Amino acid sequence: MSTSSERFIFEPSPEASAGSWAEDWQEIEKRAAADPLAYWEEQASELEWSQPWEAVLDDSNAPFYKWFVGGKTNIVTNAVDRHITGPHKNKLALIWESEDGKEVRTFSYFSLNRDVEKMANILKAMGVRKGDRVTIYLPRIPEVFFAMLACAKLGAVHSVVFAGFSSDALSSRIDDSESKLVITADGSWINGNVFPLKDIVDEAVKFSPTVENVIVVKRTGTEVHMDPTRDHWYHDLENLPIARGRCETVQVDAEDPLYILYTSGSTGKPKAILHTHGGYMVGTYTTLKNTFDIQEDDRFWCTADAGWVTGHSYLVYGPLLNGATTFMYEGGPTFPHPDRWWKLIEHYGITTFYTAPTAIRSLMRFGDAWATRHDLSSLRLIGSVGEPINPAAWHWFHSVVGGGKAPLMDTWWQTETGMFQITGVPSMPQKPGSAGRAVFGQVAEILDEHGNSVPDGQEGFLTLKNPWPAMARTLYNDEQRFVDTYWSTYPGRYMTGDAAKRDEDGYFWVIGRTDDVIKVSGHRLGTAEVEAAINSHSAVSESAAIGLPHEVKGNAIHSFVVLNQGYAGSRELTEELRAHVSSHLSPIAKPDEIEFVNTLPKTRSGKIMRRVLRARALGQDEGDLSTLEE
Ligand code: WTA
Repeated sequence: MSTSSERFIFEPSPEASAGSWAEDWQEIEKRAAADPLAYWEEQASELEWSQPWEAVLDDSNAPFYKWFVGGKTNIVTNAVDRHITGPHKNKLALIWESEDGKEVRTFSYFSLNRDVEKMANILKAMGVRKGDRVTIYLPRIPEVFFAMLACAKLGAVHSVVFAGFSSDALSSRIDDSESKLVITADGSWINGNVFPLKDIVDEAVKFSPTVENVIVVKRTGTEVHMDPTRDHWYHDLENLPIARGRCETVQVDAEDPLYILYTSGSTGKPKAILHTHGGYMVGTYTTLKNTFDIQEDDRFWCTADAGWVTGHSYLVYGPLLNGATTFMYEGGPTFPHPDRWWKLIEHYGITTFYTAPTAIRSLMRFGDAWATRHDLSSLRLIGSVGEPINPAAWHWFHSVVGGGKAPLMDTWWQTETGMFQITGVPSMPQKPGSAGRAVFGQVAEILDEHGNSVPDGQEGFLTLKNPWPAMARTLYNDEQRFVDTYWSTYPGRYMTGDAAKRDEDGYFWVIGRTDDVIKVSGHRLGTAEVEAAINSHSAVSESAAIGLPHEVKGNAIHSFVVLNQGYAGSRELTEELRAHVSSHLSPIAKPDEIEFVNTLPKTRSGKIMRRVLRARALGQDEGDLSTLEE
């Protein structure tokens, strides 16, 4: 990041700042720094608890921190129930538009609750109880809200799998979580075509030892196979007496699990990040309120899919906890034309728009006119997440979409952190390209590999010093890996896996991952997962995947493949391998390029040196090769 961009500062306008939740940000920052627990306690007190906590934090068994110990609540008590007994009863909770634009569904808090109760009654009738796992594999349709909230309401643990993952990926997630039930749809719409979700589920649960029932929402009307002993149409279940009537929100312990979400790490096996009801609720509520300054008449649109953490925290839970109106659109940004998003913003009067740099970069390429032909003046705040936002994308987003007036909130966080960790608030000066400052109550520090503090302006490893309420509690079924991955490099500190710099004003400039995780179009993938998918092809002996810079996607995957004897590299094989990754992992993981090689650079102990491959591909110095085998 050049120092010239660091000097570029946007001062908040009085309109953006006046009356915002964190208007006096310096004062709040100081107060929260002096006593983070008091700050979090105060935030938690804004929500409803059926039993108050005895202690805000229990750190006696760190890194297995516990928050709001002894407290009882349910995230649904605060995301739905408390609104229907108050002035938000008839307020819109959710507005949804279909991909073809022909359907619009709206839900007041009252009607959202009715649908959540219906789904919860059905789950209950199917034997889903507190602590049971349910896998949700749904498109961007309102039912994903009902399903997540219904599970939470019963104290069951949802595991949402992005509906672009293949049957292999889905099946390993279902089996690892030992899900009792799967909620899916017949298909999903992708740019006018049907993606066969139910077929993928059929394949995934074929040998599943735990799945008893599959609930299928009719979305595309595609013909699907229904197993009479296992599969049920949701529209049939909805009309049964079991679906009717009230369904009580189970009061759970603050530390009871709310969900698990699989995310990529350095090894091929995805990690099941576990979040809990109490702390996660407080963390997402507060951070969304401060950063996106949620006000009564806002219409908040987070473009993320519910299959990723951004969808969990800031499409579903955060907005509802704040009693806001959240918007969901089924399709992609360029369907049928590259102005679809801008059209939606204009039509629905979206006030707050949260998306990813990769989407901005791809839409930017179509030219300003697609955006400027729409009246985007309803936007008062815009936001970015998932990867560093480069200055060109920042300025385009800020001036063309945000009209030069809407503050642009860059938000740095992770599946593991559950909530923003480094970001701004609308009253804070912004520096394009910097994600901002540590959130209230947090201390972020840049360390070198020995754990020493790195001077401002120098690159190092980004670490978090204070525990925070929405932090992951563990990796489901893998406590040791939780400790090893995040808490062992710097004892007592959370290691993020990102490289970053801090400037003299306390702003953080995130550079990117330091491990074998790559962000492709903002999606988090592990090189090892891509390698495992390629290696499962019969022609392949071994392979290495790396991320190389890509203008739109941020990173693109390049694979180096060593073939088995008797196979030769060809255009056809390249296409076959790309398709293989697509169907065995996900279309988003498809390598941009495949290079056939005779050997891979390895250390003497046999570890692939991806760093060397990257340097070679970029024409850079290969660095220290002393550990390279002959
Ligand atoms: C990256 C997504 C720069 C980072 C919420 C992190 C970012 C990883 C930003 C987590 C940002 C996320 N600026 N980089 N504003 N936000 N990242 O778990 O490398 O999908 O470690 O969570 O995304 O990805 P995940």
